[in-house]
Amino acid sequence: MQTATELLEVSEPQNTADATGRDRAVEEIARRCSVRAERGRRFAELTSLRVGGVIDWLMLPETEEGAACVAGALEASGLAWRVLGAGSNVLADDREHKYVVLSMREVKGGASFDGDRVSVSAGFSLPRLCVEAARQGLSGIEGLGGIPGTVGGALWMNAGAYGQEIGQVVESVRVARAGRVVEVPGGEVKWDYRHTSFKEGELLLGCTLRLKPDDPEQIKARMEEAKRKRFATQPHGARSAGCFFKNPPGSGISTGKMIDEMGLKGERRGGAVVSPVHANFIVTEGEGARAEDALRLAEEIRERFRREHGIELEYEVELWGADRESSQEGVGFQVPGAGEEKPTPDTRYPTPSVEGGEK
Ligand code: EPU
Repeated sequence: MQTATELLEVSEPQNTADATGRDRAVEEIARRCSVRAERGRRFAELTSLRVGGVIDWLMLPETEEGAACVAGALEASGLAWRVLGAGSNVLADDREHKYVVLSMREVKGGASFDGDRVSVSAGFSLPRLCVEAARQGLSGIEGLGGIPGTVGGALWMNAGAYGQEIGQVVESVRVARAGRVVEVPGGEVKWDYRHTSFKEGELLLGCTLRLKPDDPEQIKARMEEAKRKRFATQPHGARSAGCFFKNPPGSGISTGKMIDEMGLKGERRGGAVVSPVHANFIVTEGEGARAEDALRLAEEIRERFRREHGIELEYEVELWGADRESSQEGVGFQVPGAGEEKPTPDTRYPTPSVEGGEK
């Protein structure tokens, strides 16, 4: 297994040989699916950590059908691609990313309520959905109101906070398969701690949640309480990707508390700092901050954790390496189809959440 550091040290991608052919293919897909395609955007402007290099092509569908069309066409063409939501759980490295980023940010439509159900697209803001559900007197996601991500990112990683996880209330998820929108029952998905059974080759397009009717004032009060706790215990207004590492599963141990007890709050490498508010947050500061700074700091924390506690910390944020040559190597909140297991944080690209993270 490669570590994050090793992954960042691998050579530049080799899929530059037929750049012209790739450009033509992307432009043709954009035309065919009627979506915008842009060059020269940077992860630094598209992720909450505000670091990361140039993106070869960014594709921006506005509808679920458009996104499914793009995903199908990219898959068929063999072009490498990844899916990005709000970028709130992704640390992309500083190099040039020679693959297509399919941004779901614009696939947001409106949340459509019907009794105790709500249907919403992947790019819709999770905090906004929580507020709208509370207004409708629907309970089940009020604890997630402070997670700054998209619905798609939350689904991909089964985002959770304050005793609630989105997977608990999913009736069905719409995914892209072979260019089409397919509905998958929530019961067929495995919803684990910050991890799901969604796999590569499918893209999450939206979902229908089934919530529980309750008094809107009480739901709102619980949501405010969750946000208050979050504000008191986690950095806000800072450039972060939520918690950087998972809590060791089944242990009841808070990674943040342990990093705090190791005296690492405020520890800095370049423009990356262990948050003085919550030690499981790495925040970036200043114009010169780089992904490399955050990774170096994270790897040093992992190393110390291994040495002092014998625990291998697993990344909770997704680490996106620039090297990616075919669509078979993907990570992101692409989902399944091909039966291939979704890589976990410290395997392929030692990991990326769509907070995701608390996102
Ligand atoms: N604590 C410290 N020092 C710290 C951080 C925490 O002493 O620097 C103590 C707290 O005072 C508390 C205990 O550790 O007594 C637990 O802290 P907290 O309630 O913040 O929970 P956590 O386990 O650190 C998890 C999630 C958060 C989620 C909160 C609330 C993970 C990795 N983290 O944090 O999720 O918001 O519970 O539900 O599962 C995220 O997913 O990105 C995230 C931040």
